[in-house]
Amino acid sequence: MNSNNQPIGIFDSGIGGTSIWKAIHQLLPNEKTIYLADSKNAPYGQKSKQEIITLSMKNTDFLLEMKCKLIVIACNTATTNAIQELRATYDIPIIGIEPAIKPAVTHSKTQIIGILATQGTLNSELFNKTTEKYQDTKIIEQVGHGLVQLIENGDINSPEMTKLLHSYLTPMIEANIDYLVLGCSHYPYLIPQIKKILPEHIQIIDSGEAVAKQTQNILRDKVGFSSTQNSEPVFYTNINPKVLTEILENKYTVEEIDF
Ligand code: SIN
Repeated sequence: MNSNNQPIGIFDSGIGGTSIWKAIHQLLPNEKTIYLADSKNAPYGQKSKQEIITLSMKNTDFLLEMKCKLIVIACNTATTNAIQELRATYDIPIIGIEPAIKPAVTHSKTQIIGILATQGTLNSELFNKTTEKYQDTKIIEQVGHGLVQLIENGDINSPEMTKLLHSYLTPMIEANIDYLVLGCSHYPYLIPQIKKILPEHIQIIDSGEAVAKQTQNILRDKVGFSSTQNSEPVFYTNINPKVLTEILENKYTVEEIDF
């Protein structure tokens, strides 16, 4: 496979997909990455399937104009609702992010697991097809109403967040889950708070590492790795660049675009 120095394009409904970007950047530091946060339209979780498809196509068109060699949908809601349409429309590898149900089911001892995700993800056909496969495990689904909006507003550590997390996690703890799957790329930013609420024996799983490995596989098998070293990532958002800058710990420049 020849080298390929075009960037990897990553989009999300907002800032949460940077949890996926971090995993990709850590595993593949030589790859140039372009991250697009469609924060003006966040959250996607309560939008119709058609709205999510339209926004996902707009994001993909933007990244393709930047000559990206591969697209990563760093948003569970966009993946579950739009990946089939994107793959049918664009002649470029498109990687999605799905909740890590399989590892949780495989390792669960109580055979009861919890999943926290948006309404759009939990209602999607793709998600329901996945869970149908695991009839022997009880999967407790919880919509994280309001969580994405609070994260997008920069209110990760607010009392309101703590209250919402308690109300979503307590019934799962009482139901004896031993794994909690984070089915939204925004939620890894809540792990420190979630850990304060969950008993220690409950494991938390997110999808960052799996998506990074899948990206590496596609580059190796189909697209080609970059031959440059330690590329500087590029970040775009269409509203409130301060929140994206802060979630990136002020290490990178964020450009606000009219998009
Ligand atoms: C949202 O925009 O509602 C959340 C994004 C996600 O599902 O990862």
